[in-house]
Amino acid sequence: MKGFFITFEGIEGSGKSSLARMSAEHLSSLGYSVVLTREPGGTPLGEMIRKLLLDPEGEPMTPLTELLLYFADRAEHIGKTILPSLKEGKVVICDRFSDSTIAYQGYGRGLDMETILELDRIAREGLTPDLTILLDLDVETGLGRNQAARKFDRFEAEDLEFHEKVRNGYREIARKSPERVRLVNASLPKEAVWDQVREVLESFVRSQTYRIDLPGNR
Ligand code: TMP
Repeated sequence: MKGFFITFEGIEGSGKSSLARMSAEHLSSLGYSVVLTREPGGTPLGEMIRKLLLDPEGEPMTPLTELLLYFADRAEHIGKTILPSLKEGKVVICDRFSDSTIAYQGYGRGLDMETILELDRIAREGLTPDLTILLDLDVETGLGRNQAARKFDRFEAEDLEFHEKVRNGYREIARKSPERVRLVNASLPKEAVWDQVREVLESFVRSQTYRIDLPGNR
């Protein structure tokens, strides 16, 4: 029995976290055993790392320190939550994963991409998501939504140019991995975005051989 690993990605204010939660609820209602988690912060130690990384009042850190903290969070998360859950045949839905590091630290901060890819491969123990849903929308709309929701952390404080680089980085990732990454237009009203996400999820699970033994599922 094999679980699935599904990740949600996108810029600030893309609606990722709500859509990840709705997806977890939807797949649970279809009979899947689902673990909903996030990065940074999917473990108790990861929550501490998240505070260090995102606190706008926190000690400024070098871009390399930041990168290594994301990888420390990922290594802990992979070892303690993601791999054990997949081995139990569960569906793991993760709000952000490796593509965030490539988009933010690679395309956004401009750190060396080869170094990032190599360290990332080590941190995630070679595990790649089965499906990634990339919520795409323009940067002004995304940041505006977060301002309206009074969400503010160290990344929301970055300028528009930084967020544009992140968005374009994500689009580049989607272009390079079309078999894994599904791009969803997140600028539409909430219900319309959810309809697209649900459609992607349902066609993905239909395409998989692993099914939970439910009446009517054979
Ligand atoms: P969020 O989960 O509320 O979106 O906040 C996480 C922030 O951390 C977000 O601004 C993106 C950033 N981030 C990175 O820069 N690199 C990473 O590898 C991850 C997982 C997140």
